[in-house]
Amino acid sequence: MNEYTRANQRGWDGLAETHFRNYHIDTLRGGTPLINDLIRGEVGPVAGKTLCHLLCHIGTDTLSWALLGARVTGIDISPESLRYARQLAAEMQIDASFIEADVMDVIDRVHEQFDIVFSSTGVLCWLPDIRRYARTVRHLLREGGIFYLFDGHPFRAVQLDDAGEYGPAGSLQGDYFRRQVWHYPTMGDYTDPDLVVAADSYEWHWTMGDIISALCEAGLRIEFLHEFPRYFYNGYTPHDVPAADAPERFPCTFSLRARAD
Ligand SMILES: C[S@@+](CC[C@H](N)C(=O)[O-])C[C@H]1O[C@@H](n2cnc3c(N)ncnc32)[C@H](O)[C@@H]1O
Repeated sequence: MNEYTRANQRGWDGLAETHFRNYHIDTLRGGTPLINDLIRGEVGPVAGKTLCHLLCHIGTDTLSWALLGARVTGIDISPESLRYARQLAAEMQIDASFIEADVMDVIDRVHEQFDIVFSSTGVLCWLPDIRRYARTVRHLLREGGIFYLFDGHPFRAVQLDDAGEYGPAGSLQGDYFRRQVWHYPTMGDYTDPDLVVAADSYEWHWTMGDIISALCEAGLRIEFLHEFPRYFYNGYTPHDVPAADAPERFPCTFSLRARAD
């Protein structure tokens, strides 16, 4: 694991407990999956299928897929997040596996193949190497299996200034093609604006070309790429709040499905 990822691991360990409080766990405990209808529809039926959730965090989406009938495995780098994921699986009596691993090491560590590989909402910015991630997805898929990704759109990069901060809503001030590791001295939280974890964090930016090319090079066939003018977290940044008057002129999120064949 590189030093950047090690720092990110500490940050995510620091956020896990707050997310366990704020992620609608009681709804999940009550048997209602937390995956939204858009994603459920785009992934398609999962009953009876094996599903690997990359960057699964505290396992809420992983266990939601289990409630929908999949046999699930979650992979994440944060031991504290996985402690909550395992606790929740035990409480809900769901037979789920959770593996603590840097996704960059998964090709060497995990040798099972799955019908579905799933990753969503806050994935690509944590990856130091998009091509290795794409090869990892292919490695985890059986022939004919599908990969589904829903994440922030790389166009967001043009909203960031040189310090990695957002300007006034709708302003375009950054560089879509800039290659740099973004360093933040603390980690904020999209579920609790008052929480600041004292851990350095490092983020990467991948253009849409980087993402699609990496998947194609890894042997995946893109079935669709959908772009949406809305974010997935209220309050992810002040400009991400999907207020009624938010301009819907820019791509904010995207989804894609790709097949291993
Ligand atoms: C934004 S969260 C994922 C959110 C998830 N969709 C959810 O809402 O539950 C990002 C997750 O990626 C994990 N992560 C970051 N870098 C990673 C890496 N290199 N390998 C594996 N997991 C990583 C973090 O520990 C964290 O749990």
